[in-house]
Amino acid sequence: MSTSGFIPTSGAQPPFDPALLASMASALFGALPGEQARAAGVQAPVSLAPAGSPLVSPAGFGPGVPGTPIPQGQVPGTNLLPASPTPVLSLAHRAPALLPHAAAGNGLPDNVVTQLPAYEPRFGSGVLGVPEAMRHPATGSASPFYFVSDSLGHPSAGGLPLAAPIGEDFVPAALAPSAAPSALGSAAPTRPATTPAGVISSEPKYYFVDSVVLPNGYVTPAKPAPHATVFVSSAGQRPPFDVNAIRRDFPILQERVNGKPLVWLDNAATTHKPQSVIDRIAYFYAHENSNIHRAAHELAARATDAYEGARERVKTFINAPDVNEVIFVRGTTEAINLVAKSWGAQHIGAGDEIIVSNLEHHANIVPWQQLAAAKGAKLRVIPVDDSGQVLLDEYQKLLNSRTKLVSVTQVSNALGTVVPVKQIVELAHRAGARVLVDGAQSISHMRVDVQDIGADFFVFSGHKVFGPTGIGVVWGKREVLEDMPPWQGGGNMIADVTFEKTVFQPIPNKFEAGTGNIADAVGLGAAIDYVNRIGIENIARYEHDLLVYGMQVLGDVRGVRLIGTAADKASVMSFVLAGYTTAEVGEALNEEGIAVRTGHHCAQPILRRMGVETTVRPSLAFYNTFEEIDRLLAVVQRLASVRRAG
Ligand code: ALA
Repeated sequence: MSTSGFIPTSGAQPPFDPALLASMASALFGALPGEQARAAGVQAPVSLAPAGSPLVSPAGFGPGVPGTPIPQGQVPGTNLLPASPTPVLSLAHRAPALLPHAAAGNGLPDNVVTQLPAYEPRFGSGVLGVPEAMRHPATGSASPFYFVSDSLGHPSAGGLPLAAPIGEDFVPAALAPSAAPSALGSAAPTRPATTPAGVISSEPKYYFVDSVVLPNGYVTPAKPAPHATVFVSSAGQRPPFDVNAIRRDFPILQERVNGKPLVWLDNAATTHKPQSVIDRIAYFYAHENSNIHRAAHELAARATDAYEGARERVKTFINAPDVNEVIFVRGTTEAINLVAKSWGAQHIGAGDEIIVSNLEHHANIVPWQQLAAAKGAKLRVIPVDDSGQVLLDEYQKLLNSRTKLVSVTQVSNALGTVVPVKQIVELAHRAGARVLVDGAQSISHMRVDVQDIGADFFVFSGHKVFGPTGIGVVWGKREVLEDMPPWQGGGNMIADVTFEKTVFQPIPNKFEAGTGNIADAVGLGAAIDYVNRIGIENIARYEHDLLVYGMQVLGDVRGVRLIGTAADKASVMSFVLAGYTTAEVGEALNEEGIAVRTGHHCAQPILRRMGVETTVRPSLAFYNTFEEIDRLLAVVQRLASVRRAG
């Protein structure tokens, strides 16, 4: 039927009831804020809010219900702000900080003092938010854990069927007694140990008390993660958290690829974003968008508060002692380049030595190579054993008085090896060297405590930890950062400019020239809030169980060679399959909706050390499931059997 059949002709009756239409229009406009309704020429049936007081939540924003008043400046889904209007935070409201120019590293005399604004967040932890759905249903309070209930997923994301009904024993299908791999014997993973209802046990309960060497050569990790805490719900029979509820917070996990439900096992490349992060960024552009630090108007204040609130979140997340030690950059690559171009240019000279490990991503090799070439310095490499773990004895032999910097990853992006960075830092410091730890692959999998690690720099990317792309962090010790020259010049990083000289801002602004990625910094803050709600220890434990299972079942497939079998690993299950290129395996997986990275993973030296040029690299996050590993396994098994049969 042609749609033109609905166009009323002169004298014809319209194909709808005008009275019903008028009543629907009235209801629609009645739900709009007063100004919008008035602009539309409709007599709004709702009273108009006084200027500057509660707004009306926009439709489609997370858990907000259209028509529900929310306080100005409050993010939908949070109830952490006072209901009264929030004051405009202009520069005049901020306490000035007196800063000697000399402290800005510009060589001016100490007695030249400039007034600099101190940027204090207005709302503390209340500015950024997580969905209302993540609050405890009974108490309404924000939970430090993701409570196990399928009703707690984000309402705007669809749901997947539960693998097992709530309250039933949590035994992944592939691990049920009939399917449990016999190779593991009594050490086979079973449901998590439980403690009395509602108890948070500080005693980690691991499936493997000790390392177990499997027939395929894989040594199961004995140490899932430091600081492990096991949460057991009031039902006492549930997993530490409900992965199905968590999955509903990630809209993209509902996608279908090649007609199959998406299985995202490319988390080492990038992670997906929960609805709360997506909403937070949208909220920024809808309600706060402005440049920061430079104006006295309300939106500049909101944007500044949101941005600095995100910096506070990063500080707490990595346990930095001082928020001003947190510098926003584009990502880990830019972070390492900043250190190389600023600290490196200042401190590395001819004959000096820089140590990296054999595991490094190209981003932690190339900038140091460039620096070494420019300065006549030398790059030295910590070797690894056949499992892909660094050899600390060999590392010690590399350290000497010429060593100026050690730059190592905390988790290998290609193999998943967890590197003993704390020991590496201690040994480097004894030799008088500074240390950079690349946290790109560790930040989403384990508790990061920069004070405990003790390094001089820690860097990571937002997009690896469920935040946006294009935002990352350099954390550095205050005294180290203050001594470093800026690496880029421009607006935002200056306190005063004449044609004769420029006075720089103190840290962190000294390293944030130009308009930064404000919205995505705010999104990173929301991602950190999200991770905190689930609990990084819960994440570490669950992922450990997934990893142990995945390594075991993949390694049992004939023709599979696991690449990277260190006892301490996170997330990554690199492998090659006899008879297939890694690209062929990747394509076969993609046909089944399974996303993995294949190739050299920007880490060619370590793959060559392991005797390969490329691998298939499934990599896990806390929203992955045992069932997804089984889907991966089924494809690999099918390929293996087909090729052998042929
Ligand atoms: N560094 C990212 C990876 O390992 C891109 O895939």
